[in-house]
Amino acid sequence: MDWGMKNRLARIIKPDGRTVMLAADHGYFLGPTSRLENPRKTLEPLIPYADAIMVTRGVVRTSIDPISNVPIVLRVSGGNSIIGEDLSNETITTSVKDAFRINASAVALSIYVGAKHEHQTLANLAKLVDEGEEYGMPVLAVTAVGKELGNQDARYLALACRIAAELGAKFVKTYYCDDFQKVADSCPVPLVVAGGKKLETERDVLQLVYDSVTNGAIGVDMGRNIWQNDHPVAMIKAVRAIVHDGARVDEALAIVEEAKVKEEV
Ligand code: 5RP
Repeated sequence: MDWGMKNRLARIIKPDGRTVMLAADHGYFLGPTSRLENPRKTLEPLIPYADAIMVTRGVVRTSIDPISNVPIVLRVSGGNSIIGEDLSNETITTSVKDAFRINASAVALSIYVGAKHEHQTLANLAKLVDEGEEYGMPVLAVTAVGKELGNQDARYLALACRIAAELGAKFVKTYYCDDFQKVADSCPVPLVVAGGKKLETERDVLQLVYDSVTNGAIGVDMGRNIWQNDHPVAMIKAVRAIVHDGARVDEALAIVEEAKVKEEV
């Protein structure tokens, strides 16, 4: 890896080999997602606790202070919507040149393995990796969800993650599942785990984070389970405690419980 590529990745993945990425790119196909209607308001208090933030260029330019030093993982795929015909029909929506203008630390795009537009999304990844390699920009591949995709199944996720790594993604975002260690063991690049839809309890979220990092993930790229919580700052602090400080679920949960008692966010 060239210096620039290594340096960008090192901004996201901390010296302990771990990362807490804050995902807030949902609007690119979901529009004004609940509690992310005003991205600046939602994200500002959380940014100091995020190792990186995953957003679109629209949110970067309108809602993140340019003097903020948070590394940007720029969502560069889209062209679909939740009410459209097929979520897998994605294209590259942002050039690598614009990613450099934004001073992104990585670019992210979704792949839809097993879906109608599988080939197109894998070709998007290959093209982005080619450009990324030329200029030193790491690519994060996101193993996307879809009605017909087995996003809880280790065999399916191992397939999607491995293909992403083979095509040159520098790291992969995927879902946690039973036998997750098998997904991690068969993927030669680091994995970060998505939170998915808001889980019932904070314990469930923190258990997911704990299970992810004890079964081979280097961290999380989590959105709704942080900023849809009534205590988002406490939640991200609790996630950090597990990912970076080796806290157990009960110890991390205490951070959230304390915030509830003190009525802090
Ligand atoms: C979809 C995505 C999301 O937009 C987002 O990053 C997911 O985060 P979370 O599931 O934790 O809310 O990548 O594929």
